[in-house]
Amino acid sequence: MSWLISPNLALDELVAQRRAAGESIVHLGFGESRLPVFPGLVERLVAGADRNAYGPVAGDAAVRSAVAGYFARRGLPTDPEHVVVAPGSKALLLALQAAIPGDVLVPEPCWVTYAPQARLAGKRVFGVPIPAECGGVPDPDRLRETIRQARQQGYDPRLVVLTSPDNPTGTHAPPDVVKTLAMIAEEEDLILLSDEIYRDLVHDPAATPILSPAELARSRTVVITGLSKSLALGGWRIGAARFPDTAWGAQLRADVTGYASESWSTLAGPMQEVATYAFGEPPELLERLARDRGLHRAVARAMYDIVIHGGAECRPPTGGFYVYPDFEPLRETLAGKSVVGGESLQRHLLENCGVAVLAGVHFGDDARALRFRAATSMLYGATRAEQQAALDAPDPLAVGHVRAALDAVEAGFAELAGLSPCHPPPRSPALTGTPH
Ligand SMILES: Cc1ncc(COP(=O)(O)O)c(C=O)c1O
Repeated sequence: MSWLISPNLALDELVAQRRAAGESIVHLGFGESRLPVFPGLVERLVAGADRNAYGPVAGDAAVRSAVAGYFARRGLPTDPEHVVVAPGSKALLLALQAAIPGDVLVPEPCWVTYAPQARLAGKRVFGVPIPAECGGVPDPDRLRETIRQARQQGYDPRLVVLTSPDNPTGTHAPPDVVKTLAMIAEEEDLILLSDEIYRDLVHDPAATPILSPAELARSRTVVITGLSKSLALGGWRIGAARFPDTAWGAQLRADVTGYASESWSTLAGPMQEVATYAFGEPPELLERLARDRGLHRAVARAMYDIVIHGGAECRPPTGGFYVYPDFEPLRETLAGKSVVGGESLQRHLLENCGVAVLAGVHFGDDARALRFRAATSMLYGATRAEQQAALDAPDPLAVGHVRAALDAVEAGFAELAGLSPCHPPPRSPALTGTPH
């Protein structure tokens, strides 16, 4: 069997190569929060540098206690014994897929990794279209129907992956949708795997509150989180899982810990030091998180306005740093440019407009759909100084390099709509160079 590199990582490498060769590309193709590390986190990393023992597989008592407190503050009382930390939530998701029996139901579209991980774990994957109002969750009626059909064909759909807010649509499910899904989980005896890695990046929690399915389907929901997105620590690889307080939850946790002991052993000691501090949520870190959230909201909103102006349909973003436009209204115009689906749309934007996006087909969406994900967090800047300027600005949209990138994207989408030419891609020093 051969494995392909994940499409988002492959695109990131391609963009880096082409930029190194001198091309000017606005990179919206990679789901990374491109912001500087908060200094307090660096201090903890340095302080933890002498932690060179392996330590317990699930993480030491201090870090598990910090994670338990984090969940408790979100309406999910948690015993540290029900927590496992790991090098990234990706590792935990794979271990869970391997440990939980049965087949998998995923929203369509969803994050690129769920389905390949399920296949790695020997499972059959069933995609269920998302509802009109949000991404990250299966449409409840379509979920019931998919389960019925899968069972008729002899499959055993048991695990549902939910993401809130989600990647790729940058939206989160309203509480009534989560309630319906929790009810279906009880009726159909499903396990919910709730990926809440973007939870702290809901743009306006007062206006659009978030509800974890673990508050409702307590005994059958496993929650995953991590620091890659909220604190821009993707490369530090810190993830955590919360298991239900039941005998089954304890068994699942033991299975995941056993898997961990044979693969990654434990989260690196210095990272446990960082995670203890971060999940403790000191005020200075919350203040920084609030500023990050404001930046994500402003730039995602600006991108939403651009795609709508460019003739696309799109769910308004409510969390994280993505928008997921649908250029179906331009199908005829695009056919004239040989753009007939997600892949050709992605290629056209890169080749003709210097804009890198990831086609919906990579998220399990219909290959013919004229949809893609734009990761807006890539626009904050190519250097630490640029990123800090975007973060510090009262109006990030007025910061030169952010404005230039948004303008270049707007010109690209105008070309799609046939409103203006876009050859060759715009050149701007702020948009070139290998990102840091
Ligand atoms: C929905 C979702 N879950 C999990 C991850 C992986 O995060 P980590 O860096 O913790 O492995 C990502 C990263 O892109 C993501 O978008």
